[in-house]
Amino acid sequence: MSSLEPELRIIDLRSDTVTKPSEGMRKVMYEAEVGDDVFGEDPTVNEFQEFAADLLGFEAALFVFSGVMGNQLCLKTHTQPHDEVICDAESHIFYYESGSPAVLSGLQLFPVFTPDGILTPENITPAIRPVEAYYMPRTKVVAIENTHNRRMGRVYSVEQLELLRESVKSKGLIYHLDGARVWNAAVKLGVEPKVITSQFDSVSACLSKGLGAPIGSVILGNRDFIKEAFRFRKAWGGGTRQVGILAAAGLYALKNNIERMADDHENARVLAEAIANMPQFRIDTEAVQTNILIFSHTSKTPAQVMAEAEQAGLRFLGGPIGTVRAITHLDVNRNDINKAIEILSRI
Ligand SMILES: Cc1ncc(COP(=O)(O)O)c(C=O)c1O
Repeated sequence: MSSLEPELRIIDLRSDTVTKPSEGMRKVMYEAEVGDDVFGEDPTVNEFQEFAADLLGFEAALFVFSGVMGNQLCLKTHTQPHDEVICDAESHIFYYESGSPAVLSGLQLFPVFTPDGILTPENITPAIRPVEAYYMPRTKVVAIENTHNRRMGRVYSVEQLELLRESVKSKGLIYHLDGARVWNAAVKLGVEPKVITSQFDSVSACLSKGLGAPIGSVILGNRDFIKEAFRFRKAWGGGTRQVGILAAAGLYALKNNIERMADDHENARVLAEAIANMPQFRIDTEAVQTNILIFSHTSKTPAQVMAEAEQAGLRFLGGPIGTVRAITHLDVNRNDINKAIEILSRI
């Protein structure tokens, strides 16, 4: 490209993690009051944790560095080696966490196959081990994902969550939420996040997916649970010092960037409907509930679609087998979506 040609603006729909911190977010990071968080003395971390606990309806919260760290710390804190965790077969915990439950906590996962990523009392019951079967792993945790990444950002209804909770608790098990995108679920249902999260014994929620923070997640539970998770976070090398600089971004994200996700959902719907009207693509528009779309081309492979799109300045990621995934987020606006539609129509 000659230096006289305008630079191509890339429309990056690979993930809602590609966002850059805004001016306002950078300002609060710059100005954050800090202290040594290993001593529990970082005022911004403490303010963030109190704010998050209140927002999500828990006694206590702990700032952690990633969604994987959040999920794995929760599993570690709830279990003993040889225990088992029920999750769905398309879940992030099963698919994308590097087998960490086995390595970090000595756990086995029991992946349950479901038509839509939704765990129910019916589909988890056969996975629960009989208590008297000493030769089997001990079922300890049921972990769900809401919204569901590999299932097009699907949302559990409040009723589904309550029914599952009743069943999980009646069997004496622990109910964990991988709520990386629980904010999208709350916005979709039009409820406060705590209506969803407070049903669980523990939650891991991300600040760097859709909320625009450069790093960070938060885990939630009762005071004793968080105290114990704090020990493990340190043991795993996650005790850090003036980390209020990062917690400030998280606090800003929670205060400013949740409600606006409705725009991302609307953009995803507009894109999905346009794709449905292109004869060369297949998409189930009914399944698009939040900011994640999964679609396929009738004759081209996902790699071909992505390569052609890339040439025109539009980025996607490969989705579940044979599909392309697009995620809308706060760094793409309606003009970008219209441009994306125009590019796709030519593929
Ligand atoms: C549902 C879900 N859980 C957990 C994670 C892990 O988050 P991180 O990449 O911050 O470790 C992701 C990341 O995409 C996710 O989609």
